[in-house]
Amino acid sequence: MKLTDHIWYVGVNDRDKERFEGLWPLPYGVSYNSYIVAGDKVALIDTVDNRFFSQFVEQVKDAIGERKIDYLIINHMEPDHSGSIALLRQWMPDVCIVGNRKTLSMVDGYYGQGGPTLEVTQGSTLDLEGARLQFTLTPMVHWPETMMTLETESHTLFSGDAFGCFGTLDGAVVDTDLDTAKYWPEMVRYYSNIVGKYGAQVQMALRKLSGVHLERICSTHGPVWTDQLQEVVKTYNRLSLYEGEPGVCLVYGTMYGHTERMAEAVAEGLAQGGLKRFAMHKLGHSDPSYIIADAFRYKGLVLGAPTYNNGLFPLMQQIVDDLQGRVLKNRLIGVFGSFSWAGQAVKHLQAFAAQNGNTLVGEPVEMKQGFAAADGDRGRALGRAMAERILSGK
Ligand code: FEO
Repeated sequence: MKLTDHIWYVGVNDRDKERFEGLWPLPYGVSYNSYIVAGDKVALIDTVDNRFFSQFVEQVKDAIGERKIDYLIINHMEPDHSGSIALLRQWMPDVCIVGNRKTLSMVDGYYGQGGPTLEVTQGSTLDLEGARLQFTLTPMVHWPETMMTLETESHTLFSGDAFGCFGTLDGAVVDTDLDTAKYWPEMVRYYSNIVGKYGAQVQMALRKLSGVHLERICSTHGPVWTDQLQEVVKTYNRLSLYEGEPGVCLVYGTMYGHTERMAEAVAEGLAQGGLKRFAMHKLGHSDPSYIIADAFRYKGLVLGAPTYNNGLFPLMQQIVDDLQGRVLKNRLIGVFGSFSWAGQAVKHLQAFAAQNGNTLVGEPVEMKQGFAAADGDRGRALGRAMAERILSGK
């Protein structure tokens, strides 16, 4: 698909993969985006998962016929994009692999490729004689070698994973030709799960790009952003600053239903307090990737779980570890929990709430053995306190 006089989309859709990185469910599939930029010289920007190589070759030929590819620009080495490097080298042995020092050492480590290479540095350029590429190093967004490539004539940014999202590209690739509704929540899920740990590095990349005039962003996953480009940059900025929207992610685990009744009471309190925007997740039912996404999305986070093995209910421990691993910060946190003979869950959740600039809101609610009317009152009070705090904007 032609994007400009000099740029083609040659990526593929994967509707078979169950879990991205072996972890994250893909209800709408995923695209592996690759692009051709052609002046008198031809550059290919990233490749695709190697299972799609034969389709990929056909698409490259549809774009440029029998012209040879002079350069392979590698913005990112994760194998969903670098996977076809060895096959590409077999097809076109003279292609020059372009990357920064870390990229080139990874090419060697993953694929053991000899042949021509070109090392680029921050700000260096490559003249394609009719198009011109400029490189910006963006380490740890979300791998150490990541970089972005700007085509300076058309103001097109090839951004690697940044600004990407899950979801296949059905029939079209540019945002103006697609109903983009399904991509926005999938962008939050993609960002929070995969890039979420690296907010500071994303901020550094955004600073490097500030002041650069952009007409389109071509990520390695999801739509080519044109009309909605500013909204995409805003979303990445907000998420990487760990700014939450006014709402609550309420996560609870339960074994015999008592903690679930407490969760319902907290939800009632949220609603009584006038809060409508909250997502409830039952551990063991919701996939963790959606919980992580909603924890990044909303300013409020309420966590509730039973005590288990003198510690935290294991599925809640996993979520707490997932959020700590992504350095989730600046959240308003409410906690509740239960125990049968020795309370531990609430203590653990309070310790989590004390980290990373998070703030404990309301009275923690700890329930011994069965759920009673007084426990419901305390749960509703916690929900109301959280709603008031969120809606006050403080
Ligand atoms: Fe889409 Fe980080 O690879």
